[in-house]
Amino acid sequence: MFLDLSILNADLDNIESFLKPVIGINAVLHMDIMDGVFVKQTSFDETIVKRSKDASPTSVIDVHLMCVNPEKLFVKYKEAGADYITFHYETSNIKENIDRIHELGLKAGLSINPDTDVEVLVPYLKDVDMVLVMSVYPGLGGQSFMPNSIEKVKFLREYKEKNDLHYLINIDGGINMNTYQFIKPYCDLAVVGSAITKSNEYVKTFYDYLIAFNKEN
Ligand code: DX5
Ligand code: ZN
Repeated sequence: MFLDLSILNADLDNIESFLKPVIGINAVLHMDIMDGVFVKQTSFDETIVKRSKDASPTSVIDVHLMCVNPEKLFVKYKEAGADYITFHYETSNIKENIDRIHELGLKAGLSINPDTDVEVLVPYLKDVDMVLVMSVYPGLGGQSFMPNSIEKVKFLREYKEKNDLHYLINIDGGINMNTYQFIKPYCDLAVVGSAITKSNEYVKTFYDYLIAFNKEN
């Protein structure tokens, strides 16, 4: 398992100092991009992604597009430093967009909302590099974990093993040291946002999570 640190609720004006503990270690950074249409909120744009990549060049940058017409953003986020680009199943042109991301030399992820049935992903599972199961409704950090996501990551783990596929299984929303126990048998990664970024002892908490999550490998 790997920790995928969401910067959504971090102090974005001072992202370079926020990322200091991350520099030089094998970190994955989760970047939530919201367009105000696919979700009603907006978040940040490619400038924060680029500043994060520049501050921590060895980090893997995982861009989560909660946006309609995600294909319009792929080049912009590649140039900003993305390694993975994840878009939502609840948009359109899924296969074409997976191919577009691959043509840019990036890894492609597909995400599903809490009300979407996981089995709709089956036609795409041989092509994607990551599946991101939303365990909250997308749009905000700090929400409570939705237990119906456990069955989804379990399905994805069993399907992956049965069919010898390579996609990573990731989960996003409400993950903390408690909820992590339910998903760790099934996930390769888990996004953690506010449990770390809102901690009074952010650096200590970050390392606690990193050690707890990454030791399960
Ligand atoms: C929610 C975002 C999440 C968010 C997770 O729409 O996709 O990545 O940052 O934050 P927590 O861990 O606070 O639920
Ligand atoms: Zn996210």
